[in-house]
Amino acid sequence: MKKLLLLLLILSIIESVSAQGMWLPSLLEKQNEKEMKSLGLKLSADDIYSPANPSIKDAICQFAGICTGEMISPEGLLLTNHHCGFGAIQQLSTLESNLLESGHWAKDRASELPAEGVTAMFVTRMEDVTIVALQGVTENMGERDRQSQIDKNIASLRSTTKKEKWEDVEVRPFYNGNQYYLFLTQTFKDVRFVGAPPSSIGKFGADTDNWVWPRHTGDFSMFRVYADKDNHPAPYSKDNVPYRPRHFLPISLDGAEEGDFTMVYGFPGATNEYLTEEGVRLTGEVLDPARVAIRDRSLKIMDGFMRKDPAVKIAYVSRYASIANAWKKWLGEMQGLKTYKALEKKRAYEAEFTRRLEQNPAWYTRWKNLLPRLRQLHKDIEPYALARDYYSETCLRNNEILATAANLNNWISSYDPKNETVFTSKLMNVRAAMEDFFKDYRPEVDEAVLAAMLEMFGENTKPEWGAKDVQGMAEQAGGYPALAKQIIGNSTIANRDKFRALVSSKTPAEIYETLKNDPAYKLWDQLQGYYAAQVQPKIQEIQPQINLLQRQYMAAQMEVFKETRFFPDANSTLRLTYGKVRGFSPRDALQYEYQTDLDGVMEKYIPGDYEFDVPQKLIDLWKAKDYGQYATADGRLPVACIGTNHTTGGNSGSPALDANGNLIGLNFDRVWEGTMSDLNYDPAICRNIMVDARYVLFLVDKFGGAGYLLNEMKLVKGKKKRKK
Ligand code: ARG
Ligand code: ASP
Repeated sequence: MKKLLLLLLILSIIESVSAQGMWLPSLLEKQNEKEMKSLGLKLSADDIYSPANPSIKDAICQFAGICTGEMISPEGLLLTNHHCGFGAIQQLSTLESNLLESGHWAKDRASELPAEGVTAMFVTRMEDVTIVALQGVTENMGERDRQSQIDKNIASLRSTTKKEKWEDVEVRPFYNGNQYYLFLTQTFKDVRFVGAPPSSIGKFGADTDNWVWPRHTGDFSMFRVYADKDNHPAPYSKDNVPYRPRHFLPISLDGAEEGDFTMVYGFPGATNEYLTEEGVRLTGEVLDPARVAIRDRSLKIMDGFMRKDPAVKIAYVSRYASIANAWKKWLGEMQGLKTYKALEKKRAYEAEFTRRLEQNPAWYTRWKNLLPRLRQLHKDIEPYALARDYYSETCLRNNEILATAANLNNWISSYDPKNETVFTSKLMNVRAAMEDFFKDYRPEVDEAVLAAMLEMFGENTKPEWGAKDVQGMAEQAGGYPALAKQIIGNSTIANRDKFRALVSSKTPAEIYETLKNDPAYKLWDQLQGYYAAQVQPKIQEIQPQINLLQRQYMAAQMEVFKETRFFPDANSTLRLTYGKVRGFSPRDALQYEYQTDLDGVMEKYIPGDYEFDVPQKLIDLWKAKDYGQYATADGRLPVACIGTNHTTGGNSGSPALDANGNLIGLNFDRVWEGTMSDLNYDPAICRNIMVDARYVLFLVDKFGGAGYLLNEMKLVKGKKKRKK
């Protein structure tokens, strides 16, 4: 019986590896086309990716470096998530004209607002350059020599690759460094804000609903990419014209139903699907719980202040959301790994790996030590990895004052009494950055957070990592709150007026003296000193050994499980994932349907609530059932759906496409039970969440009154495949 269970477990792992994945667009014909067609795809691999001919890939871009966007018109109209455009829209908002809150649609091209710093990167072509990148690399080379040989090879690849002036060359490792791919890209820097629904729709459900199904968020926003008159990337200029992409996505008015083929094309950020049991345990049982506990404290404190004061809420809403997003994901991840027995699965998989080694003398000689050594190294790194996360979470990520001190360090330590020019030349930028910082900084909030963070650091880490110092300081001050009060109260970095006065009226020498003795800067410097002396060197010693063995383990798995198709872990490069629109059963006797609709928004509606309020106009449209051409045959307005596409962070904003390559939705999240998918993808419960294209169009047209934008789109209807 036990044996049988084990076998089933192994089969399910191998199946989960082969049925799902984030695939390389240039290899679809070889690796995936057949399977995709059997699942319902009506296109060829070449329609999806072609280095020479226009293909769907020409409509896909990396948005703002962290999300995905896609072209939905021949004139550069770009669709992405609301949460991806959030920062840009916030930048364009003022108290008088809060575009986030009210929603906004540019009434014509001339009123599209330049979104400074936002980029759109397209891939011209990609190419396997493993042979060149690994030239001169030998098996018994030290890691450092290996890397410097690869760096040399990559540098020469970059300089010899034929490219246009406006293109960039990037070379990236895949399969833990067993393969290398080159990407020719072009990055547009003139990107303008076209429109978005109000946050009450674009962020409906906010943090409570984040990572959760059933979902009712209209998570989209629109931008436009501008190019010079030759259609090439150019810095912002009022003379730029809308970019004409080689391909744009038609939008389906038919939507998708349970069982329909779907694919998601975009830029997934990072996954770790090939870790060992011990590697997964380190994340799921050690690091995740620590990070979650730290963020629990900081989030509760911020939330308390935000609920009391609307001005604080505006200032902290973006910061809160981003801290809460990873917090909630880690929480879901650690629970999911347990519930769905990730460690047991890894153990069974490793047992099978070992069994196969034992049957093959050549493999055995080569790889018998791999797993035991990896296991030991993960154990060795554990305390240091934990110390690293404690330091970065308590001292940098979750409080503002020490993080800001850290940011200022480069500048402060550039001071040279014999030559002050470097220091003074940086002053302008520092002032601008600090003005930015002060805009949303509330010392009373940060003080409360800092007290909690210092307490967590002082009470939970080791004396030799700085905990003893922090404890001592707290004792002397009369407790952690008093210590935080002292630091923030006496810090120039925490006080806008003091900081302004300092940098505008003092000499460089005086500025330097003041900041060097600033209590926040001094504390950060002290703690970072411990980190640099006690923790970092250990990580720098152990991590490269893990990387080396992980690379060998990856290669070994691909050899030993020859029958399995392996996809490379996500690394922010262009990938395609595919599957079907499908509900799931999260628990015994519970079944989740695949689609939500506007009725569900109204079920969640809480008047005046900061997460679940709904604009009056949406209520009116709902009451009148005024859904126009966006309604289903039975008169509902679909809002979101789920599918078995294997996605991760960075896939937000990615188009969800039907079998014909038409846009049916916009990827934006994953379901709670499956947030562990970065470490342990399980096709039975991992689902991606997409906002329905019909809801997007309805919100632009009926709700937003920006129906003129539809004139440049291509809407398709009635081409629905006969199914089943
Ligand atoms: N969980 C999604 C992702 O990882 C959406 C995040 C934005 N929404 C939020 N409420 N913070 O990015
Ligand atoms: N919400 C994520 C993103 O912003 C997507 C995910 O993690 O599923 O990319």
